[in-house]
Amino acid sequence: MRKFTFLSLMMVLAVVCIFACTPSTSSSTDARENKSTKQSKEPVTRALAAAYSPFFSFGVAVNRNHVTQEDNPGANIVQQHFSVLTAENDMKWESIQPSEKRFTFKGSDALVSFAEKYDKELIGHVFVWHQQTPDWVFEDEEGNFVSREVLLQRMRDHIFTLAGRYENAIKGWDVVNEALNEDGSLRKSKWQQIIGDDFIEKAFEYAAEAAPNAALYYNDYNLFKAEKMDGAIALAKRLKAKGIRIDGIGIQAHYSNEPPLEELEQSIQKVINAGFKIMITELDLTVLKFPDEDKVGADITLDFAFQEEYDPYKNGISEASHQKLATAYIDLFRLFLKYHEHIDRVTLWGVSDKDTWRNYWPMKGRTDYPLLFDRKHQAKDFVDDLIALAESANKIN
Ligand code: XIL
Repeated sequence: MRKFTFLSLMMVLAVVCIFACTPSTSSSTDARENKSTKQSKEPVTRALAAAYSPFFSFGVAVNRNHVTQEDNPGANIVQQHFSVLTAENDMKWESIQPSEKRFTFKGSDALVSFAEKYDKELIGHVFVWHQQTPDWVFEDEEGNFVSREVLLQRMRDHIFTLAGRYENAIKGWDVVNEALNEDGSLRKSKWQQIIGDDFIEKAFEYAAEAAPNAALYYNDYNLFKAEKMDGAIALAKRLKAKGIRIDGIGIQAHYSNEPPLEELEQSIQKVINAGFKIMITELDLTVLKFPDEDKVGADITLDFAFQEEYDPYKNGISEASHQKLATAYIDLFRLFLKYHEHIDRVTLWGVSDKDTWRNYWPMKGRTDYPLLFDRKHQAKDFVDDLIALAESANKIN
């Protein structure tokens, strides 16, 4: 635990900075007391979600194995540490309506029951996306693109069926996912090509009608980039100007253990100034090198051929890399706390390093360490620091 002395000191200083107030003697003492609790090597018994509840909700993406309890230790972590769940894959179009009008709710129903049983909130992910959406959606029987009218009808039916089934269960929906290019312009997806630029407006209109009680979000990756965030804000403002409801912008946050802190902070400030809520929707921090720096982001179609040199921690992560990860998580949560009045939720994209998508994306067969719980479902040592960070912030607040 000695290795965390510096980190913990930074943490205490950070908490003081978060609220830009002169620290009272008692708050410094409180932070030290938290530290000494940690040094007594007690296991993590306090929950992340409980510690952060004064600031924002703390969520996680779950997969089928958590919901069926096949991954029992993983399910236990979900129950203990997280208050709001997103389906990692089970509410995507290909899972819900794999062929026309054949709806398959097995996975999503099971998730909804799991959430009810353990008293968790649910986020719906996702209505309209160009990925994990079957070809039939865009095609007629001959394989040609359908008309704008047909595609709008299919979009509407899908949104109404899915939102309707879970009307009382879902707190917020990712309505449109990843509609922007890196420069903030509209991606030429099949949605855009067939319907036109207003496919986003239509999706939000249908969602507002079908899910009147749920919050509605636009969600994307690389929104720390100024140009891309400008595009997202322009999009949200366009909707608002037309009287179409949009409640917030979801920042995916698939980063590395060197996250873009300053750029992210500037992006967060822009969303706040524009008057929208922020959700951190898919946080994970790879410790592995991205095979092509120009493609950093979350394009799920990337599939680089396996190369040993990109998989250096097969038998365990290096101490230096782990320390970087710890610092990165602390720094990010310090930032989220600073803007907590505008951030509704922070969701981790996965429970443990055992089942993270980062092991198979953007290169299959690697051993990554991007989450808060390790392959044996143990909380990483800095989870205590994250909890102490929130508890100290709460005392100062
Ligand atoms: C990922 C899942 O984690 C993987 O299991 C799946 O194979 C591909 O999709 N942006 C999103 C998420 O909005 O839905 C993606 O999830 C990751 C990138």
